[in-house]
Amino acid sequence: MREHCPVVVLISGNGSNLQALIDASVNSNFNIVGVISNKADAFGLERASKKAIPTFVIDHRDFPDRVTFDRALIAQIDQLDPALVVLAGFMRILSSEFVQHYPNNILNIHPSLLPKYPGTNTHQRVLNAGDQEHGVSVHFVTEELDGGPIAGHAKIMVSPEDTAETLAEKIHRKEHLLYPHVVSLFASGRLEMVNNKAWIDHQEMAKTGLELR
Ligand code: GRF
Repeated sequence: MREHCPVVVLISGNGSNLQALIDASVNSNFNIVGVISNKADAFGLERASKKAIPTFVIDHRDFPDRVTFDRALIAQIDQLDPALVVLAGFMRILSSEFVQHYPNNILNIHPSLLPKYPGTNTHQRVLNAGDQEHGVSVHFVTEELDGGPIAGHAKIMVSPEDTAETLAEKIHRKEHLLYPHVVSLFASGRLEMVNNKAWIDHQEMAKTGLELR
């Protein structure tokens, strides 16, 4: 059991998931020790500053390529010495070097029921396919984009009136419950990635991870 697991959160924008994590961390077993954005105008930076959480901007446009940008990220993250790196709307693909630098210790949240709909524009793709069910997944990050083992998911129903915007709202509400829950499980030591699989209480999880209802 790690008391107050130090967490670094990477963002690119609004940061509503970051806010949910900040709020949850008050009475939880994890502590956000820094927030890094690749965009200087990301609203999430203000959310963090309001709570006196150190913030850092590392603009990917200042670097010639992905690897040098990722090395700058690594240098900043390592100074903060987290036990977990949390991607919360971080809109950059991470290099193998980055992923290998934090083995088994990076989580991402993705707005679909993975392995369905990796990548972007998930709500519209769900509507185009006529799916009746949609959802959100939290997964460990591996070198495969949106492809690492799933730690948890939450489902929503798609109604005929739904648009990409209403789905995004419904999904966000679920995200804000699911992400703090999964981060807290990791912080407690109960959730881990072992041999490229998600494990809970020393047992391999189902492929879809836990379901938050
Ligand atoms: C979320 O929908 C998340 O699933 C995706 O990016 C969005 C970030 O939203 N990866 P926010 O910045 O946390 O509000």
